[in-house]
Parts: sequence; C-alpha cells; structure tokens
Amino acid sequence: QTIRLSDYRPPAWRVPQVALDFNLGAESTRVTARLTVERNGKRSEPLVLDGQGLTLVSVKRDGVALDVQPVGETLTIDIPGDSAVIETVVDIAPATNTRLMGLYASGGMLCTQCEAEGFRRITFFPDRPDVLSVYDVKLTADAALYPVLLANGNEVATGQLPDGRHWAQWHDPWPKPSYLFAAVAGNLSPLRDTFVTASGRTVDLAIWVAADDVPRCAHAMAALKTSMRWDEVNYGREYDLDRFNIVAVGDFNFGAMENKGLNIFNSRYILADADTATDADFDAIAAVVAHEYFHNWTGNRITCRDWFQLSLKEGLTVFRDQQFSADQGSAAVRRIDDVRMLRAGQFPEDAGPMAHPIRPDSYIEISNFYTATIYNKGAEVIRMMATLLGPDGFRAGTDLYFDRHDGQAVTTEDFVRSMEDASGVDLAQFRNWYAQAGTPHLDARITHDAAARTAQLHLSQTLAPTPGQPVKPVMQLPLRVALFGGTTGKRLGDERLVSLTEASATIDFDNIDEPPVASLNRGFSAPIIVQSDRSRADLAFLSAHDDDPFARYEALQQLGQATLLDSGDDSDLVAAIGATLNSGLDAAFIAEAVLLPSEAMAGDAMAVVDVDGLHTRREAVRRRIGSDLNAQWWAVYHANNANRYELTPEAKGRRRLRNVALGYLMANDDAEAVATAFKQFETADNMTDRMAALNVLSHSNAPERDAALAAFHARYADNALVLDKWFSVQAMSTRADTPAAVAALMTHPDFSYTNPNRLRALVGAYAANQVRFNAADGSGYRLVADAVLAVDALNPQAAARLVSPLGRWKRFDAARAALMRAELERIVATEGLSKDVFEIASKSLV
Ligand code: ARG
Ligand code: ZN
Repeated sequence: QTIRLSDYRPPAWRVPQVALDFNLGAESTRVTARLTVERNGKRSEPLVLDGQGLTLVSVKRDGVALDVQPVGETLTIDIPGDSAVIETVVDIAPATNTRLMGLYASGGMLCTQCEAEGFRRITFFPDRPDVLSVYDVKLTADAALYPVLLANGNEVATGQLPDGRHWAQWHDPWPKPSYLFAAVAGNLSPLRDTFVTASGRTVDLAIWVAADDVPRCAHAMAALKTSMRWDEVNYGREYDLDRFNIVAVGDFNFGAMENKGLNIFNSRYILADADTATDADFDAIAAVVAHEYFHNWTGNRITCRDWFQLSLKEGLTVFRDQQFSADQGSAAVRRIDDVRMLRAGQFPEDAGPMAHPIRPDSYIEISNFYTATIYNKGAEVIRMMATLLGPDGFRAGTDLYFDRHDGQAVTTEDFVRSMEDASGVDLAQFRNWYAQAGTPHLDARITHDAAARTAQLHLSQTLAPTPGQPVKPVMQLPLRVALFGGTTGKRLGDERLVSLTEASATIDFDNIDEPPVASLNRGFSAPIIVQSDRSRADLAFLSAHDDDPFARYEALQQLGQATLLDSGDDSDLVAAIGATLNSGLDAAFIAEAVLLPSEAMAGDAMAVVDVDGLHTRREAVRRRIGSDLNAQWWAVYHANNANRYELTPEAKGRRRLRNVALGYLMANDDAEAVATAFKQFETADNMTDRMAALNVLSHSNAPERDAALAAFHARYADNALVLDKWFSVQAMSTRADTPAAVAALMTHPDFSYTNPNRLRALVGAYAANQVRFNAADGSGYRLVADAVLAVDALNPQAAARLVSPLGRWKRFDAARAALMRAELERIVATEGLSKDVFEIASKSLV
C-alpha cells in the first residue's frame, strides 16, 4: 500500500494535551492515555487512532466506557461534539519487542524509539508529525530494577509506593509530535555537568549509562557543551528547558534520536576512551551528539508536516553538524570526509532502483527513507543554498525561518520560501533539487585563445532518467571554479562562483597569458559528477598547485581513478603521491589525498563493474606505490610516531598518516612490515593504532594475523562495541577465504541477529566488501539473503537495510546479476515478509 505526498490532508482532530501513565514492567506494561481532542475546523470525520501490537483493555469517551475494537491497525471513535477526552488503556510487552520500535528492553533497561511510527506501538494515537501536543507523563516501576525514571521535559514530582515501586512525573511544556516522545527506566548512573545559556539560564546536563561506563562519557559531554555554545553563536539558537538528558543503549536501530530533552543514543555514539575508541569514533561521537542537539531547533521546535518533508529536518541538521565538525578541526579534511561518504552511500542510491528525490513523492514504508539521499544529499542541497545566498543571506534566511515557523509543522517549501524572502535570491529553478532524483553529470572543457589572451570554459549538464522520472529538467548548479597557469603554476585571477542554469553555457575569462588548467567544482560546491578533458598531466599539476584543498585532493583522486580504470603506466601517479608526501601540508590532509579510491568508487565509474579485474589492478597499483616509495613510507611511519597519546587534531592527523603509511608498507606483505604492524598492534596505547595495525594485518597471509585477531578478542571479550570492530575487520578482509570466514562467524557465540550493531558489523560490513561479497559463486549473495530472512522475522528495519546491496545487480555482469536477482526473488516470495523488506526487494527487481 503506497502512501503519496499528493494525498496529504491536515488532521481532522487536534490533540492539544496528552497525559500518559505507564505502569512499567519488562514482561508487561500497562499504558493509560488521556487525550484531549478537538475537531480541526468543520471536518466531520470520526477520530481515527493508530495502534500496532497493542492489547486493548478499555476505551472511555468523556468518562463513559465505549464498546469499540480496533480494525487492523486503527481504532475509530465517533465523537458527537467538537471536543472530548478519550481515555484508552492498553497492555504491551517490552521484553518481546525485537523490532526495537515503541517501548522495548535493552540490557536490563526499558527505553523507547518512536520516530517515525513507533508511538503507535505504545498507545492509540494519531501518530503523525503534524499533531502537536503538550505531554504529561507518569512512570511507575520497581525501584530496585528501575531506580532511574526519565521522560521528556522537566521532572515535576516523584514518590515512593509501599510495594517497592516508585514513580516520577514529567512535564514537557513544548508542544511536540508523538515521534519525539521518549521514556526510559533503568539502573543508570549519570555523568553530570551544567551549561549556562547565552541569556544566563543554567541547564542541568546528564548522560545516563551503566555505572562502569560513566568514565567513557566525558567526550560526549564535552561535545554537547561545545554544540550548545556553537548553536548560540552561529544560528542564535538557545536551549529551552531546564534539563537535557542523554541515555545510551546497546540495542538501537540507528545512530541516535532527538527526543525533546531526552536524546536516546546507540551507545557507539556516546562511549569512548583511548583504549576502546578510535579517532574516527571520537569524531563520530561529537558529530552525532551535535546533530541530535541541533535537532532541538531544526526538527523539534520546527518540525515536519508529514514524512515526505523528512529532509526539512535531516538535511538541514546534517548540514549544521557538518559545519560544526568543520569548526572543530581541519575544515578541508571534514569536507573530504563528507564527500567520500556522499559518493560511497548516496551516489549509488541515486543510480539504483531506490533512487528518490530528497522530497520523495511516495513510499510504502517510511523507515526505508532514512537514506543517504534524505540526509546527505539533503545536506548538500542546503549547502548549495548557503553558497548561493552567501553567509549573511543564509543567516538571514535561517533567522526568518525560525521566526516565522517556530512551533509549527512545516514543509521544505516553507524553508525555501524563508530563504528567498530573507535574501531576495530567486530559488525557483533551484527547487528542482527537491523534486528530482539522480546525480547530475557536468561536462567541462577549456579552450585558450593565446592571441586574444582569453579562455573559455564550456560547460554542459545532463541528468539521466531515474525510476518514475523519465524526463529531467535543467538543474541549477552553483560551481566554484578557478584557472591556474600551466607555466607558472599560479592562480589566474580570482575564484568565480558560476551559477549554471542552462543545459550548457560558456564562461569567459580575460587576461589569460598562459595555457590554463581548470579547477572545477571547488569545495565540491555542487553534488555532481564532473567529467572533464583534463589530462593526467593536468591532474598531477593540480595535485601540486591547486589552492583549494578539496580540489587538490580531488585532483589526486581523479588521477588515482584514471589509473585504476586504465591498465597503462602509473608512474605519474606514484610521483604525484611522492610529491604530496613531501608537500609539507597538514598530515591529516596528506593521509586522505594519498589513498587510492576504493574498489567500489572505481567500480561506480565503469559501465559494468569488473569485480576481480578491479581488485587485481588496485592491489597491483598499491604494491607499486608501496615499493617505489618504500623509503618515504618508512620515513613517514617513523616521523609520525608520537610518544604520548593526545586527542588534538594534529595528533589525530599524524596517527592517520602513519597508519596510511603502514598500509602501503604492508601492500607487499613483506616480513619487516608484518613485524612492524604486529609490534604496533601489541604495543599501541590507543585503539586507533591498535585497530589500524589489526586492519592491515587482516588482509595478510602471515601467521601474525590470526595471533592478533585472537589476542584482540581475548582482550575485549566483554566490550560489545570493540567486539563489533573484531567482526567488521574480518568481514572486510580482502583475503580469498573471507566468504568462508564470514559464514563461520555467523555461528560464532558472540554473533547475534537481534543486536543491530553486531548485525551491521558482520553482515553489513561484508556486503560492502566488493571483491568478496561479489564472489562469483554467489555465496555472498546467499549469505546476505539468508540473513535478511532470518532478521526480518525479528526486526524488519534492520533486515531491510541489508537488502540494498543485492539491488545493485544491474551494475554487474550477467552471471552475478542473475545470482543476485535469484536471491531477491527468493526474498520476495517468502511468506509473511515485512513491508520494509518487501518494498526494497520488490522495487529492486524492476
Ligand atoms: N531522527 C533520527 C536522527 O537522524 C533518526 C531516526 C531514525 N528513525 C528511523 N525510523 N530510521 O537523528
Ligand atoms: Zn537527524
């Protein structure tokens, strides 16, 4: 059953007040809900409440019992007047809630996840984001099992009961949609702190975890305080409650959730210390803490009218967390990371069967649309508007948006109109970015007229059809471009912001006295694929001279990509990497620039992915880079050996570069490199270096590999987050025996279908291992399809995420495509499939 944006209608009933009373127990919880409902205008419909998996005990209307029963997943109540108080009593069973939506049990605690449609698994309610209510919540539970009771907003009263139970009453003054409701009960300990807002209010902050984990919350707490200040300074947004609570849980379907005043996190985005978390983990924690905090304004104070508007809050909030992260360290390296993620996750989505605009037109299951497109391409669309409006125009736009829509449930159109009204910039054509799926291609060529001292940049754009969108309009592309002199290496004039609004255009440059080389789409100003006539020599030249760090990185990546796709000589690439190592630039930047594009990235540029050929070629190039620059890699390795662990951007950059060097040294699997990696593994005083050593060893055939894996497992046997790394590193190994190793790990006592982190660590990681997942015998496809079916019975959202790798069959040779299709067909033919898996599997077969 397809839900369409064009069918949107405002709710027939509003629910200004909600009182919830939870009598909590893991096996059974009783929920009493009192809804104050009011007819919305002159609408004559009855009140229709959503409910899923609820055992209905009773219904009252204005205190009078009603004899009504749910039909399917709705409960319909006739109301004669224009308002009423509806009271429902239901029973739910958190302990057997394996979907992890609604109220569920995790590691001895009870917690909730409601976005997008989980609240209906707690009580009967109009579970849609445009129904905003003020919540009063009472939680009652066994005081020994659940000493801490938390809900949204501020705690207003607590009490003890004679039977060993206790209760807490919470009030959230801000009207909110049901997807932002949260409650937690557990034996939790806080890391506490305070934050004084710009206007001088003190906010009590707490991060709640198991007592042993409290010392691992310091980084998340620091990130929270930095985020709170950052949003005041950069967007004028202040926090609006007396308390801000965060709870970390071990079983969680996603990264984290921005419930008002009570964020709930996957523990992987909270817990960190030097011994158990890598530098990348620390950075991800800061980014996710900031992301959820920023939602307080972009998502909570101003929310979405309907789920087609999801990118209104997610694209904008990702853009804001990207800006925040860029301010914490090297902005260039963060941009490189953001773009790498977009290309790895979003470009394939936009080129595949599930391609959708950032504002989709329809869906079967909304959970399937929490995608890289909505989040990451959504953030790129906001970034393009910020580029077109300039910093002052963009800030005026967000100020107007907050002013105009505070307390409302709105649309992406409302956001764009605020941008236009505040800045005077016309965004009529730009709106195509909201409606069109697919990644635009830009063709760029440069010509030079030496006599006239001019250059012409010839640009033309195309956008290929995507499912349901056969004909595409012309897009508006903001392109930052500059020219460099091929003789002097100097930039010729200023950078220009070209707004391409036509299918093709020619841009003129004056005073060009030497053959120009074009630096295109600098800073990745538009999320597109650029094809140019730049030669390998031009790319090597830009990798040495471009003054935009992203473009400089990109030039070396393009040269690497060209090298992987041709079989010709690669000495210019080796020389350019050697020169970059000697450039004196920031270590973190060098580390990113000298890495080859992944096999997946290279494959995306081929008409048909040559799985084995690409792997062989990339390994050969890596070995050549490793051996030709051997002395340099050793020098880099030793020069960046810090004596003392620090978490500064400089120290992180040095660790990264040193470990990239170790990877190239290991490319030839020679004894000295293996011994060095193993020694690093054994002596490292931090997880970044230990994990990097384990990672390079994981691809090796040396006996040290198994020794390191065994030692790692023994050392971290009781740390679930670190064991996830142990599973992933094996699933991502390029060794030929990886398919068999993964099959064996599926029966390892530490593997679990019910924990989403563990599932992703093994099956998700394996599906991203291009050369081994796509084993020619189809064993990888079968393993993943088996996992999809096993998990679907427990947790459809987690299962659905594993389907998309199979949906890429059109990108592969006929034999692999047939094997992938056969697995998709087997999935679709399965009795009792969830809508989640059905939607992705069936759309993937078209
Ligand atoms: N709003 C959350 C965040 O991005 C994610 C919620 C995910 N929910 C889902 N059904 N996929 O911060
Ligand atoms: Zn979000």
